[in-house]
Amino acid sequence: MCRSQGCSSIGRASVSKTEGCRFKSCHPYFLSPVDGAQRVRHSGRERQGMSKGRVTSGMRPTGSVHLGNLHGALDNWVRLQNDYECYFFIVDWHALTTPGGGDAVGYENVSKMRENVVDMAIDWVAAGLDPAKCSIFIQSHVSEVAELHLVFSMITPLGWLERNPTYREMVLGYKIESPSYGLLGYPTLQSADILVYKGQFVPVGKDQEAHVNMTRDLAQRFNSLYGRDVFPITQVLLTQVPKVPGTDSVDRKMSKSAGNYIALAYSEERTTEIVRTMFTDPVKMRKNDKGHPDGCVVYAFHGLYNKAEQSAVRLECEGGLRGCVDCKKQLAARMNEALRPIRERRRELKERPDRMKEILMNGAAKARTVARATLEEVREVLNLPPKEIF
Ligand code: TRP
Ligand code: SF4
Repeated sequence: MCRSQGCSSIGRASVSKTEGCRFKSCHPYFLSPVDGAQRVRHSGRERQGMSKGRVTSGMRPTGSVHLGNLHGALDNWVRLQNDYECYFFIVDWHALTTPGGGDAVGYENVSKMRENVVDMAIDWVAAGLDPAKCSIFIQSHVSEVAELHLVFSMITPLGWLERNPTYREMVLGYKIESPSYGLLGYPTLQSADILVYKGQFVPVGKDQEAHVNMTRDLAQRFNSLYGRDVFPITQVLLTQVPKVPGTDSVDRKMSKSAGNYIALAYSEERTTEIVRTMFTDPVKMRKNDKGHPDGCVVYAFHGLYNKAEQSAVRLECEGGLRGCVDCKKQLAARMNEALRPIRERRRELKERPDRMKEILMNGAAKARTVARATLEEVREVLNLPPKEIF
């Protein structure tokens, strides 16, 4: 029997001695990370007629997808679409939780919203997300998300939101003088995003772990309040993804807000120019000076785009046999080569707005079907009068 606080699955199965119960052994939806990893390798499960696990993830419409998004998230999503039922969405509502300003969209700065959302969708498809394999859509096109968010807001304890570490970070980071109700409720909206599709796995980075944990707590709270397993116990799908440094320092992440990024949308010339100005070892002035590749951004990117030669780069750099100018030229060439097919697909999609529209409309339609079914269940569980009663 499961003795976990709030577990409504009493008596269904025994509790694992090794892991202790966080619904791991008794909850029907639970799959351990190991199961998840095996599933990626054994996609034959599906051929045997077993249902795929559900994956959900979203990104804020920052406008230009950069190499950090590409290698830190999208490459992983592209792999996952083969083995899971995936829902990937651009979170335009979440973009409205902050005021925005300058380049960033927000509730005070909505002029670039549409453009950013569509550009991001183009970048996703160009990077390899296949609309035949996964649902790609815009968060706000599924209004059931808002309805579920409202319901969740009734059962989200304020303390959970106030303790959320990203809330403080956002208030400080964006220098928000008067945070809104929506910003405080950011993880509640994110939970609705995930749970409306009954998402079991959420591929996100460490920085989003607190939100996914809150999603799990909220699902458990809902299930135990109403004595029904409506929602799965969601978990983060942590996958080894390469760390993509900013162009300015190996210690900083590439990000739009830090301005230290290379966008998929950039031309080859612009990419080469940015590589030329990347931060390197400041004490290495001449080719025959001995360098320190560990603090050098160019060296880190050789690991991503020129893996086979990275150890040679190190030896030559440390031995004073390699000049930074040539080292950068070589990297830029490799980078542009690797990005060329993605950039070509981007250009093609940009010229076919109807194709992009179709992808987003179909994606939303698929997502809406699942979301409607969930909301029907939620309305029933909450004993809300059925719409056709009067
Ligand atoms: N908060 C996420 C981020 O900033 C974006 C997001 C919104 C999300 N809804 C989601 C991620 C649902 C995963 C699942 O990156
Ligand atoms: Fe960096 Fe290459 Fe210069 Fe070494 S030679 S410091 S790895 S750019």
